Amino acid sequence: MIRSNRNSEKYIQAGLDVGSDKICCAIIEVDSKSNIVKLLGIGTSPATGIKKGSITHRDQLIDEMDNALQEAQTMADLIVEKLSLGISGSHIRGINTQGAIAIGNNNGSNVPIQHEITDGDVHRVLDLAKAVSLPVDRDILHVLPQEYVIDTMDSIKDPVGLTGRRLEARVHLITVATTAATNLASCAEELGVDVDGIVYQGLASSIATLSDDEKNLGVICVDIGATTTDIIVYHEGGIRHTATLEIGAASITNDIAVMLQVGIGDAEKIKQTYGSAKASMSSPDLDFELPAQNGQIKRKVSEHELSRYVEARMVEILQLIMREVSRADIKEKLTYGMVLTGGGSELKNLVGLAQETINMPVRVGHPVNLSGAVDVASRPIYASAIGLAQWKIFGEDLSLIQKTGNTFKGAMEKFKKLVKEFF
Ligand SMILES: Nc1ncnc2c1ncn2[C@@H]1O[C@H](COP(=O)(O)OP(=O)(O)OP(=O)(O)O)[C@@H](O)[C@H]1O
Ligand SMILES: [Mg+2]
Repeated sequence: MIRSNRNSEKYIQAGLDVGSDKICCAIIEVDSKSNIVKLLGIGTSPATGIKKGSITHRDQLIDEMDNALQEAQTMADLIVEKLSLGISGSHIRGINTQGAIAIGNNNGSNVPIQHEITDGDVHRVLDLAKAVSLPVDRDILHVLPQEYVIDTMDSIKDPVGLTGRRLEARVHLITVATTAATNLASCAEELGVDVDGIVYQGLASSIATLSDDEKNLGVICVDIGATTTDIIVYHEGGIRHTATLEIGAASITNDIAVMLQVGIGDAEKIKQTYGSAKASMSSPDLDFELPAQNGQIKRKVSEHELSRYVEARMVEILQLIMREVSRADIKEKLTYGMVLTGGGSELKNLVGLAQETINMPVRVGHPVNLSGAVDVASRPIYASAIGLAQWKIFGEDLSLIQKTGNTFKGAMEKFKKLVKEFF
């Protein structure tokens, strides 16, 4: 994928997160033996060409994507040829479906014969599970197996090699609006790179931030961006629900701009410097000065007053998230509660407010298992870009097309072949 003179046992991958506030490109190197992810380069650019997942200014967006890519390439000192591209927006939908097949045949005999399940059977059953009728303007983005059932045995994660007569797959499908995906991919291709995967941004963020325990015992991963909030619910190692809300941290900035009568740029700085998600944790005695506007006298506002606006909007966002989660058909307990990531999760005292509002454990999700330039990249704001870069290695095995097996090793074998093609 990438020209490199590095050791052949290390694999280089890139991801491009096209957000509505910033575009971020991450380049990583994965060691096939230790699975350690080393960050080689990260580049960002302010984004003005996309809002709520819809492209508003194509040429501007391409320039901004290029700026982020160039910055990451310069830092990593290599040229990206292929990358995984992130997509979000309220057009993203998640649905749970299933399919079942009979395994082997009994050659006309009435003696029951147990057949060993092969990779081919798994592909057949997944093909059936994804055969849902979709409107013409929608496509399946991901087919994510939750569990397999062989005859009456359920909760099977890898059925290959087991025996049985009936194989059922329960899967979570993520679908997108075809136009949104093709337009975004065509912008990326204008940069001279191949898009070798389009990935739901919420899924990418969860890959970068969640532990296996969280995925198994149940967790809601929420990426609060500027204009979108991506939600993904895991239980028993599988994805149970996905959705994107068209609201994000930019709403808080807009509220501040309106309430305090300041510009968006000033409101953003005020939010990040003085805003607290919990008004009770900010002092009514600490004031800050508002920027003077054309000859008006300077005004002072207390951090407490500011934080009341911030808290009100944040509570609304949290309630919308919980309303969405309550629509998911999950009866089991989500032991690990909620992991908040994305730029919006960097708001001060958000964990305290969220725990109080949703009555669940909450933590902030930083990209984990990283080495290299981590001091810059371990902020939650970069979770999606880093997850996208990891997709081909750690994420794609979640997905349907795992012809070489569903382990990291399998993904590596597949990837080794790809790398050979380039040398
Ligand atoms: N320190 C901070 N405190 C509070 N808010 C912050 C902080 N840092 C960033 N943000 C907010 O995070 C948001 C940007 O987050 P992010 O970069 O994840 O969005 P995005 O990916 O560009 O947008 P989207 O995913 O919605 O398309 C902005 O609204 C910004 O105000
Ligand atoms: Mg984002």
